[in-house]
Amino acid sequence: IFKNVAKLPSDALFAIKGRLAVDPRTNKVDLGIGAYRDNTGKPWILPSVRKAEQIVQADPNYNHEYLNISGLESLRKNAARIIFGDSFDIANRVVNIQSLSGTGALHVGATLMESLKLNERDVYFSDPTWGNHLQIFAKCGFNSIKSYPYWDAASKKLNLDGFLNTIKEATSGSVFVLHPCAHNPTGLDPTEEQWKVILESIKEKQHVVLFDSAYQGFATGSLAKDAYSIRLAITDILKDVPVMVCQSFAKNVGMYGERVGCFHVVLPESGYNAEEGSAIQSQLEAITRSELSTPPAYGAKIVSAILSSDELYKAWSDDMVTMSSRIYEMRHKLVAKLTELKTPGNWDHITSQVGMFSYTGLSKEQVARMEKEHAVYLASSGRASIAGLNDGNVEHVGYAIDEVVRH
Ligand code: LMR
Repeated sequence: IFKNVAKLPSDALFAIKGRLAVDPRTNKVDLGIGAYRDNTGKPWILPSVRKAEQIVQADPNYNHEYLNISGLESLRKNAARIIFGDSFDIANRVVNIQSLSGTGALHVGATLMESLKLNERDVYFSDPTWGNHLQIFAKCGFNSIKSYPYWDAASKKLNLDGFLNTIKEATSGSVFVLHPCAHNPTGLDPTEEQWKVILESIKEKQHVVLFDSAYQGFATGSLAKDAYSIRLAITDILKDVPVMVCQSFAKNVGMYGERVGCFHVVLPESGYNAEEGSAIQSQLEAITRSELSTPPAYGAKIVSAILSSDELYKAWSDDMVTMSSRIYEMRHKLVAKLTELKTPGNWDHITSQVGMFSYTGLSKEQVARMEKEHAVYLASSGRASIAGLNDGNVEHVGYAIDEVVRH
């Protein structure tokens, strides 16, 4: 029965990691997968996380028992608080479940929609979007996967008109997946004014919204600012309809491999009762029970400890600023090098983009040359994880870009 199994191509981002691992060149640079590195190029365990780990493990009741099917309650409650805000009526308006980070949350959301036959509708993703989006939704029976214009390659700006036109022309009730901040892969976010127009247009066409929040804290260093679009939707423009939110703690807590996240359904301000909320909760639990049994505990305890202690929360906020400021500084250092080298073209977009990534505008061929000739690895789309830059390699990357652009 397994004789004619089709061999699938490897995941593009993880394939970069594989090629990089066996590259013997000592000056190799990893700008591939979006994972924060410190100024020496090493993975960074956040000081707030180290502290939380000590506290969690010192607890005399510490153990490795199963969590509930819905996950760690204190994590779910505090995760909702940081994304929806302190004043939001979480008790009455949020139904949620702990997930395997952002991917797991997306999978729970897509599976919930599948069970409600929402997968028979069109689903729209930004063009471009994170590659995994498409396959998660395809696996859940979304057969009509479409895109909305987002990145305008010529101006390196948001194609707002194209985005709004697609919202208007889409069949009413389509599903729209939105990146609330630090857009992956472009690093380009709508302004607050643009978000208003986008959400108003979505409301007019009664589309269904799912926010995928994987980088809260990375765009501006502020959790509240990075949740602006979500909060605007749930407290104002889309407050009369359910809104789904996927939340990852992989990046902002730096616990990539521990898979901590949540999937939330935000209920409308009125028109839903507790029974409907608990019916949705039961669906989320059924999905989780059949797939994970119960969510993983370790990372959840650490994140929960951070979110529930004022002192650790403060330390974590500082850690986020450390990460976002170092990335900001690297954007500027790279552009300074390109300016010094008089590299043809305009590179201002590297400093105006936010979050972990820059959509450099380098072509597929230029990216291939960066890897072959200069040992600088980035995604073939031209997306560079700026977190992989540091004082020791930024000049080399600048020279590499200069060379491939002139070649
Ligand atoms: C990325 O886009 O690099 C990250 O989200 C890592 C991943 O899992 O793809």
